[in-house]
Amino acid sequence: MTQSQEEEVILKVKRFNPEKGYWWAEYKLKVDRFTQFTEALRRIKSEQDPTLSYRASCHMAVCGSCGMKINGEPRLACKTLVLDVVKKYNNNVITIEPMDYFKPIKDLIVDWDEFYERMFKIKPRLYQAKEVLEGKAEHRLKPEDQRELWKFAQCIWCGLCVSACPAVVIDQQFLGPAAHAKGYRFLADPRDTITEERMKILIDSSWRCTYCYQCFNVCPRDIEPVTAIKKTRSFTKTYKDKSEIAERGEKHVEAIHESILKTGKLAEAPVYLKTYGVLQSLVDLVYMSKTGKLKYALVQERPVQNINEIKKIIGE
Ligand code: SF4
Ligand code: SF4
Ligand code: FES
Repeated sequence: MTQSQEEEVILKVKRFNPEKGYWWAEYKLKVDRFTQFTEALRRIKSEQDPTLSYRASCHMAVCGSCGMKINGEPRLACKTLVLDVVKKYNNNVITIEPMDYFKPIKDLIVDWDEFYERMFKIKPRLYQAKEVLEGKAEHRLKPEDQRELWKFAQCIWCGLCVSACPAVVIDQQFLGPAAHAKGYRFLADPRDTITEERMKILIDSSWRCTYCYQCFNVCPRDIEPVTAIKKTRSFTKTYKDKSEIAERGEKHVEAIHESILKTGKLAEAPVYLKTYGVLQSLVDLVYMSKTGKLKYALVQERPVQNINEIKKIIGE
């Protein structure tokens, strides 16, 4: 294929309207190596079907409005070239669907209300000191602090991480990956004055993440929301008013640390016992014996050889 050569593709778009529900529509068009999905959709809308609805604004991965599922993957349509997807899947038929988790409004346009609600719960702005507001002091930030915050400040509120997150769907109290990325950006900012309040908002929620790393995989700005969650959890030690889930989370981390130091492995039974306590473990043992899973819980892990090497790796 030369630089300007065109190739025919078929875009299968999952359409929606509240009266008709869902249906699929197919559009054939020729694209070249520069055609992004937003451009392909623009051409379909202006040349073939004016009823097709989608959202896009900047066409340069800045405004965060063009998130959709392309061949099942959450992506920014303006940052994705059609022929790259053809090449990846070795197929010129490509599906386009609205993002998961968000309620559809029309075709690829989804309702953002719930997303914004979670984002604003974390108070996404800096709360300066009184002296700074009165012009009596300056806001100074050390380069190392700026480096820590920079990554998480790059979020464009595109919602792709939330659409990929399994925890946010099942747990109303989990703020979700985007809110945590933004939340940590302010929690770790030494100029901010409401740290205690931020811990109250973020810490319980941070222990509700399942560490599946989907948000890490799909973020178009390489923000790593799961890293923000991990870093937020490290504030738990200094927070006094811990919820049950945060306390259990801390115990779980300590139990894993202890198990790895002793055996070099994750010994499930002792980790479970230390995390959930004797009473809950006994209740669960009865359940496991009824379901035939007890044998897995009682596996005796032999320590790895050279355990001292493991200790060196984890710095003990
Ligand atoms: S790692 Fe946590 S926040 Fe990220 S997608 Fe998985 S459950 Fe959601
Ligand atoms: S963290 Fe990444 S994927 Fe999530 S909303 Fe921000 S930019 Fe989008
Ligand atoms: S159109 Fe703005 S991020 Fe894609």
